[in-house]
Amino acid sequence: MFRFCVVGCVWLLGFVDAAMAESAAERGDYLVNTIMACGNCHSPRDANGQMIKEKAFSGGLTFNTPGFVATAPNITPDRETGIGSWSDAEVKRALVEGVRPDHGRLAGVALAAIMPANFYKALLPDDLDAIVAYLHTVKPARYEVPGPVYKATVRRDPYPDAEAGFSKTMFKDPVRRGAYLVTIGHCMECHSAWSRGVSDFKTGLGRGGRVFPPREGSPEGTPGTTASNITSDRASGIGAWTDQDIARAITHGVARDGRMLKPPMAYAFYAGLKPADLADIIAYLHTAPPLQ
Ligand code: HEC
Ligand code: HEC
Repeated sequence: MFRFCVVGCVWLLGFVDAAMAESAAERGDYLVNTIMACGNCHSPRDANGQMIKEKAFSGGLTFNTPGFVATAPNITPDRETGIGSWSDAEVKRALVEGVRPDHGRLAGVALAAIMPANFYKALLPDDLDAIVAYLHTVKPARYEVPGPVYKATVRRDPYPDAEAGFSKTMFKDPVRRGAYLVTIGHCMECHSAWSRGVSDFKTGLGRGGRVFPPREGSPEGTPGTTASNITSDRASGIGAWTDQDIARAITHGVARDGRMLKPPMAYAFYAGLKPADLADIIAYLHTAPPLQ
């Protein structure tokens, strides 16, 4: 009986959802604060690792890699320290091409590859507009982060699905809709085979193995986190997991065996995913060729 209700309610929610047209800013709010988790990098946290709500998007994590040291900048509409003086076209270009405008702070300097423009390239025009519309609604905050230091030329590994692109007609197939969400969520950036700064999306898609350093401020000696194999392999991957197991891992950060999963994956953001979007993401993951 309960089960029928769950199925029925989810179906009904989908209906209501389609009936109430979302504004562009609402769609952008949804994308930015769930699947794209911009704040996971761009928002400051307190000593306990909790997001500081009033300062959302005013500057966040610092990434120290062999290729660069870069801090996720202030992307609020503050004109001096944020992106308030950028045109919509300039913000879009930063997102999908990874380039800064040729005026203002760090004019013309490329964005370090940690900013996932190689994945955001897949964004459909409406979604790109929606993200920009939402960023305009964010409360301006004054805060300047240190500029990037590059030790090597900026390079991004092309992600096959983003290079091929998506269109709305493809979304009749839940697997392709899931593939789109997995692309703009840059899941496979963390979850693919990785060696000396280069991702292997061709032969290591979803195989995991990349190691992430503990969050800044963690006690000395805290081990890093290794990204899991999320291919459909039954032993090494998640091929033997139920859809509920996978959904719980993504949205609650709990592994199949009950272990709490560690950062940097943005579980709390993914908790806000609509049931239909989560279902399509899982449908796509089932199709990821098994790898050990
Ligand atoms: C994995 C971490 C990460 C995620 C996720 C991320 N960013 Fe970034 N972003 C960065 C870093 C780091 C930089 C700075 C790179 C540099 O200085 O070279 C950056 C730069 C930017 C810039 C340029 C700002 C400036 O002042 O130069 C914009 C705009 C931006 N990000 C917007 C976004 C939006 C919108 C999202 C979500 C759709 C997002 N980012 C997701 C890490 C991230
Ligand atoms: C910033 C890097 C990063 C991103 C982005 C990311 N993940 Fe993860 N993910 C991890 C790490 C690291 C772990 C392992 C955490 C641990 O073992 O404590 C993990 C664990 C998982 C698990 C649990 C698997 C297991 O065997 O325990 C699943 C499922 C998963 N991720 C799916 C996804 C999906 C789907 C997305 C995109 C919506 C995604 N991840 C985005 C880093 C990431």
